[in-house]
Amino acid sequence: MDVLQHAPSLTPADAASLARRLFGVEATATPLSSERDQNFLLHTAQGDRFVLKIANSTDDRVLLDAQNAAMAHVARSSALCPRVIPTLDGELIGEVTPATGARHLVRLLTWLPGVPMATLPDHPAPLLEGLGAAVAELDAALEGFDHPAVHRDLYWDLARGLGLVRDLSPSIADAPMRELVTRLARQIDFRDGPRIDTLRRAVVHNDPNDHNVLVDQHVTGIIDFGDIVYSYAIADLAIAVAYAVLGKPDPLAAAVSVVRGYQQHRPLDDDEVASLFGLVLLRLCTSVCVAARQQQQRPDDAYLAISQGPIAETLPLLAVLDPAAVETAFREARGRTPAETLAARKRVIGGNLSVAYRRPVKIVRGWMQYLYDHAGRQYLDAYNNVPHVGHSHPRVVRAAAEQMLVLNTNTRYLHDKLAMFGERLVATLPPPLRICYFVNSGSEANELALRLARAHTRRRDVVVLDGAYHGNTTTLVDISPYKFNGPGGEGAPPWVHVLPLPDTYRGKYRADDPRAGEKYAEFARYVRNPSAFIAESAPSVGGQIILPDRYLASVYAIVRAAGGVCIADEVQTGYGRMGTHFYAFEAQRVVPDIVVLGKPIGNGYPLGAVVTTAEVAASFDNGMEFFSTFGGSTVACAVGLAVLDVVEEERLQEHARDVGAALLDRLRGMLGGHPLVGDIRGSGLFLGIELVRDRETLEPATSEAADTVNRMRDRGVLIGTEGAFANVLKIRPPMPFNMQDVEQLAATLTESLNP
Ligand SMILES: Cc1ncc(COP(=O)(O)O)c(C=O)c1O
Repeated sequence: MDVLQHAPSLTPADAASLARRLFGVEATATPLSSERDQNFLLHTAQGDRFVLKIANSTDDRVLLDAQNAAMAHVARSSALCPRVIPTLDGELIGEVTPATGARHLVRLLTWLPGVPMATLPDHPAPLLEGLGAAVAELDAALEGFDHPAVHRDLYWDLARGLGLVRDLSPSIADAPMRELVTRLARQIDFRDGPRIDTLRRAVVHNDPNDHNVLVDQHVTGIIDFGDIVYSYAIADLAIAVAYAVLGKPDPLAAAVSVVRGYQQHRPLDDDEVASLFGLVLLRLCTSVCVAARQQQQRPDDAYLAISQGPIAETLPLLAVLDPAAVETAFREARGRTPAETLAARKRVIGGNLSVAYRRPVKIVRGWMQYLYDHAGRQYLDAYNNVPHVGHSHPRVVRAAAEQMLVLNTNTRYLHDKLAMFGERLVATLPPPLRICYFVNSGSEANELALRLARAHTRRRDVVVLDGAYHGNTTTLVDISPYKFNGPGGEGAPPWVHVLPLPDTYRGKYRADDPRAGEKYAEFARYVRNPSAFIAESAPSVGGQIILPDRYLASVYAIVRAAGGVCIADEVQTGYGRMGTHFYAFEAQRVVPDIVVLGKPIGNGYPLGAVVTTAEVAASFDNGMEFFSTFGGSTVACAVGLAVLDVVEEERLQEHARDVGAALLDRLRGMLGGHPLVGDIRGSGLFLGIELVRDRETLEPATSEAADTVNRMRDRGVLIGTEGAFANVLKIRPPMPFNMQDVEQLAATLTESLNP
């Protein structure tokens, strides 16, 4: 049945006389748009306004009864919806039978101010939040309402959506759209099917699309209860979102705004949040299918095709979103906004914990080399080395969770995993590095390394490289020039000796000097009676420096000859990151006396390790017990083993070598000639790009580096700055970083350097 043939066709004069006769209202009538009914705006001489609704002759009286009862129910707690004004006879529904002979039911409703949201040129985020809030208010006001007529078989009922799409999708004329709708329906069925069957049910308005939502400065009303039905309690939200995202350049951001507004008034339960995106897609698919069927029935109706334009534009954008990331974004939408999070953090957290980027990112989820913010936006993480094998790597997560379920205790009890992890770890190192200690951070590991060195040499003095950072404890700040010479620092204590950073781009001896390594090492000769020399085997904090050939061999020889031991801080560089070797010291063809490990070895689980020789360990074993409550715990060892498994099985060192070489090549090709780019250096997935204002004077381009990093962030790629002048762009991604990411990083960096 084509209901449009049964639409009433009164003139405005007919409508005015009908209003006078049935309701005693003396007014002029102006037609309002409607397809299947007729609506007139009535203006009285006193300035009052009403809406006269003349129903399609096919409309059921009980359904209009239900709509009226729903509006009356809503009016008890909300002014968002119109109220029904009775006829002179006290009836809520009147009748008219025009000359055509068909009988139409007639109602008079109060008028609400505002214009349909669909008529506004754009919908800023606060308006979309207001839409969500209004829909929540309507749903709350409908709570407890029921009527026999709303338990009906309606094709706009989302609970029927999957069946409807199955039946009607073959009639979609456009083949790519037919394929998309079919695929989405299958995906929704697979991902959400079992869950949506169990969702909370309620009577819902079922059509808060942007033509039915009135706005002034704010949302002023929601009209048209024609599709009222008993369905999923979140149907109104899903439908509001479905229409609010149409035509938006960033549909997910628009969706999140609506969901945020809704959840500030009405919390969703877990299953509802998980199902929402599927229902949004389902509504749009339903709309495409219904329009396709109508088009078959009325091939000449151009309006039908036009109304589908925005869906054809937006549905493909929604289809490529990761449903899990959208779910997280919806879940987070009930949380604080980034500004609120920042404000709360400032209130309660110490002020010298810095926040990256001028516009801080609120990250709520990580997956491999990608991070996702509160609004579901994906960022390419080219900065974080702690999630070495990838953010949330399932193998590591599972190892931690499974061990946690069984046992997590300390090293005073026997457990196989402690020695297993030790054996696996020393197997990655050359002899005679064979004895391990497990702690909880890089700082604890460096702190312990110093204790080992001091116990072994019975000396105190420490030799370090300029610009180095080794950790946050009192002693480590004392041996970190980056800290003691930086803001708030108090300079080097007398027992700390700082050697120049062997930087062949900016330092005293440059890349063109084949003996730069030995020459830099010579500075160590000035130190008397060192206990230890400690250095990153590729100084990262110092500016992503690749040491000149023979530097470590020469400096180690000098320090050892003076009676000191050599500590390699591999906290940033270990576990294959450098590509060519598992540890950065190997590229320098040395074997340290003590190796310090941190960040990547636990993939985010707090894990640090010190590996040393039997001799050094024997000196430390002097009667004083060494104990760390959490260090080497059962879970820590399970995690450590899982990380090593992944590094080996996924051949991440080789991967870093190949992808890193491609990245270095690409960066040199694209940026080598850029006036700001002074040096591009690195090994594997450990890279630095030094920005200078002048290639002769090497004046550091510090503010340009900061601007570049912030522009990259805005374009969805996360990197940082490093070095004494904070002018070195630091690229140090999780190891799964791939060739596609190389292209994205290189292109985004090129754009960001040329704003
Ligand atoms: C080279 C180096 N060593 C040690 C540390 C200290 O590690 P943690 O922060 O885990 O204590 C860091 C941390 O940034 C580091 O970069």
